[in-house]
Amino acid sequence: MEGKIWLGAGDIKLRPLQEDDLDFVYKLWYDVDTSPFSDGPPYRPISLKRFKEWFSDEFLPKVDQSSAPGGNVYVIEYRGEKAGLCGFSIEWKRLSAEIWYEIVREMRGRGIGSKAVSILLDHIFREYPVRMVEADVYDYNKTSQKLLEKIGFETAGFDKYAAMKNGEYVSSTKYAISREKWARMGKNNR
Ligand SMILES: CC(C)(COP(=O)(O)OP(=O)(O)OC[C@H]1O[C@@H](n2cnc3c(N)ncnc32)[C@H](O)[C@@H]1OP(=O)(O)O)[C@@H](O)C(=O)NCCC(=O)NCCS
Repeated sequence: MEGKIWLGAGDIKLRPLQEDDLDFVYKLWYDVDTSPFSDGPPYRPISLKRFKEWFSDEFLPKVDQSSAPGGNVYVIEYRGEKAGLCGFSIEWKRLSAEIWYEIVREMRGRGIGSKAVSILLDHIFREYPVRMVEADVYDYNKTSQKLLEKIGFETAGFDKYAAMKNGEYVSSTKYAISREKWARMGKNNR
């Protein structure tokens, strides 16, 4: 089974998601400081009971499949404490991986997000024959844009009508980094 390994070393590590992470995931995804920036499942608030069913029956069984919609999911740990989540899925026809990441609000601004994404990039380029890693970021999400630019991502596309938020369209930018660029940049981020 893919994904059942710990990634990274030192203060920040990524470990595979497990059943008892449910409360942490529920809290993170429905935090008003996280959900406006993310686009992942389960898309709209549901009760904890329904979330538990969805998490165990539909989400967890798929998280080790690199091309599944949820892709591989990791819990980001900072000094042994749960700090966030990240993951990726692969679009094989384009040899490209799409990543996502979220840090709990109390732990933001300490470099955890940048480091976690760097660990994820190392893993993806080492283990999978992809040429590109990509991330879609809403244009109002300046923190995430800064994070990606800092570690070497470049803009690769623009979607003017990416989503509808509060009755208005919001735009998003696609960021990408190639295997070659990460080979050059990655050493600065390890
Ligand atoms: C985006 C997110 C993961 C960043 O995590 P983090 O651990 O705080 O990131 P870092 O501490 O590594 O900071 C990344 C950069 O953003 C910068 N930054 C922090 N807050 C910022 C803000 N409000 N505006 C602009 N830049 C900001 C930091 O200064 C840092 O750059 P620096 O190292 O050059 O100073 C976190 O804010 C989050 O979970 N947001 C909600 C979910 C989300 O947006 N996910 C991404 C969807 S595309």
